[in-house]
Amino acid sequence: MKKRVFSGIQPTGDIHIGNYLGAMRHWAASQAEFDNIFCIVDLHSITVKHDAKQLYAKTRELAGLLLAVGIDPEQSAIFVQSHLPQHSELTWILNCFTPLGWLQRMHQYKDKSAKQETIGMGLLDYPVLMAADILLYESDYVPVGEDQKQHVELARDIAGRFNSIYGDLFRMPEPVISKTGARIMGLDDPTKKMAKSETVQGHAINLLDSPDSIRKKIMRATTDSQRDVVYDEKRPGVFNLLSIYQLFTGKSRSEIGSHFKGKGYSDLKSELAEVIIEGLRPVQERFKDVTNDPAHIEKLLQDGADKVRPIADKTLNKVKRKLGLG
Ligand code: TYM
Repeated sequence: MKKRVFSGIQPTGDIHIGNYLGAMRHWAASQAEFDNIFCIVDLHSITVKHDAKQLYAKTRELAGLLLAVGIDPEQSAIFVQSHLPQHSELTWILNCFTPLGWLQRMHQYKDKSAKQETIGMGLLDYPVLMAADILLYESDYVPVGEDQKQHVELARDIAGRFNSIYGDLFRMPEPVISKTGARIMGLDDPTKKMAKSETVQGHAINLLDSPDSIRKKIMRATTDSQRDVVYDEKRPGVFNLLSIYQLFTGKSRSEIGSHFKGKGYSDLKSELAEVIIEGLRPVQERFKDVTNDPAHIEKLLQDGADKVRPIADKTLNKVKRKLGLG
């Protein structure tokens, strides 16, 4: 039997190359090896202020983007989290087994709550919903970017606690984090992770950006006052641009090092912009194709939900029986 891969992505804002290089690309590349479930996590998107019409549209756009980056519905189920109430139900149950202190320690909660005027319960509870997503499907592997590692570890802690009380009920998931691309930084500020929630102009390259916009953003990317193009983690701006170059070209660090020897930042930037434009071109073309017919996307999401529902039901029923619910 193939091992199960589960991962999720929020339909908030625009999907950027951080999401692509850190997660989506790997999901597509390893699909044939696994039994895959990819979830568009719209319930996570309402943990901060949102616009209903936009959320609905972005959910469909994201389904199109998943197809465009190469997720194949024959090998992978794609579905929307809110289409299956089992996620919310298991979240409630897991809440009752999750110490508050575990949630208050989460980096993302600390960052996001500092930016909110009032903090909704949902923001604190976000990682428990994520644990429910993962545990419902008896997931073996959870491929994510570096920023989500702590949340997957929390899912393991919750599963461990539950299992220690009720016997081996949940399968223990493992986070899978790629060596390169797991943390793409913002172009405006290379000390901060590239994030969908960031609204500063030029912060991120989005998957659907036009060639012109990509060129502008890359040419304006923050670097430093030095000149030579070398891999040096202490120079985060150039390091980030070189990492993106490496991921889009597939070349090794030493090849890239000799390629840029004697060249300056503007050479790196203009080449990088073209490499990204070419890398995203097939994704953008496929996106146009697959979203031509909105009914096709609705059917995809419905089929995805139908495919995974029996798995979610089975786990939830097992949990409820153990707890004396029903
Ligand atoms: P989200 O929507 O913020 O991001 C989706 C995926 O993209 C990765 N990622 C990055 N990788 C590299 N560099 C970056 N700058 C970067 N920004 C984002 C994320 O790590 C993620 O893998 N809570 C999750 C979604 C989620 C989930 C789950 C994931 C909900 N339930 C269950 C796995 C399993 C989130 O908001 O990801």
